[in-house]
Amino acid sequence: MKAIKLKENIYWVGGIDWNLRNFHGYLTQCGSTYNAYLIIDEKITLIDTTKYYLVDELLQRISSVIEPSKIDYIISNHTEMDHSGGLPKLMEICPNAEIIVSPAGEKGLKAHYKKNWKFKIVKTGDKLKIGKYTLDFVLTPMIHWPDNMAAYLSEEKILFSNDAFGQHIASYERFDDEYPLDMIIREAQKYYANIVLCYSGQVINALKTLANLQIDIIAPSHGIIWRNNIPEILKYYKKWSANEFDNCAAIIYDTMWNSTKILAESIQTAFENKNIKTQMFSLQHNHISDIMTDLMNAKYICVGSPTLNNNILPTVSAFLTYMKGLAPKNRVGLAFGSFGWSGQSVDIVNDILKSCGFQMLEPIKAQYIPDKIALDNIVKNLESKL
Ligand code: FEO
Repeated sequence: MKAIKLKENIYWVGGIDWNLRNFHGYLTQCGSTYNAYLIIDEKITLIDTTKYYLVDELLQRISSVIEPSKIDYIISNHTEMDHSGGLPKLMEICPNAEIIVSPAGEKGLKAHYKKNWKFKIVKTGDKLKIGKYTLDFVLTPMIHWPDNMAAYLSEEKILFSNDAFGQHIASYERFDDEYPLDMIIREAQKYYANIVLCYSGQVINALKTLANLQIDIIAPSHGIIWRNNIPEILKYYKKWSANEFDNCAAIIYDTMWNSTKILAESIQTAFENKNIKTQMFSLQHNHISDIMTDLMNAKYICVGSPTLNNNILPTVSAFLTYMKGLAPKNRVGLAFGSFGWSGQSVDIVNDILKSCGFQMLEPIKAQYIPDKIALDNIVKNLESKL
């Protein structure tokens, strides 16, 4: 396993997690990488590591360039263990290496590994001269933990952005001109929707800081490295962080005896009659992390559940909990569902969507099996509100 050159003296030395299919609850059908970068200068510098089980791959790639024991500095841009998991083994090999971290990063690494390593704390604006190169640091708290930071190699215009601009893609290819762009953007969108969306305010601040930098390469900590399509990914990050969406509707539901499904289809008809694009997601067939990817583009978020045991279906509850945590903003919500006798589900869904800060449309309920007259009325009423 070899290092891949980004520029003279600068290498990708990460690990490829071909079989990863779940990243704390997020389906990663394309696997992932944990990107680490090696800079050869007077002080040999490594930026981030890998998950613990890919540390030997990291060491092999480093060894294809230099003896790992020669590393002087390890920049830890993020404490989360997908990037710091290789540190214990690496620190056994180079015990005198200094770990460069943010203030929260030092606390995080000490809390995770309980080791008396040598730390150097940096903040936004601090520089680290490593020979002919200099690294500038920018703290990027909450993208995606409080400890996150980015490092900028000014002489080569490379931004080591850690989680920001990443995608969960395992591939032989390393660069955005070697892999289909629409697939990278799709995975970057999924990553943003499931990891970053709730921290969009912090992304807006980070983008303002980054606007002052000249960037030739964005080297994230997951997936493909950006060098040919930087304006494209920045454009999407601006859109996603601003909570901008298209004039379309996501209809998400589960059903017991198809009545809530029939309501979902009538709701779809009403949107279609108003030339508003819709996407339908049965929670029996779609994973919540895939739904979030598309939902990020939707103005209307319509959620349906029948009543079960005076409550909503557990699948709908799980989806709502997940979506609320990720905090999409400025949307229009619609609750719907069927019931047999007590009928609490629609009010429960309505209250949760309201608590997300959504502007709510009038909820839609139907007892047992809605007939054609009831469904026609639902379509007509909803159309009049759109
Ligand atoms: Fe890729 Fe927040 O770790």
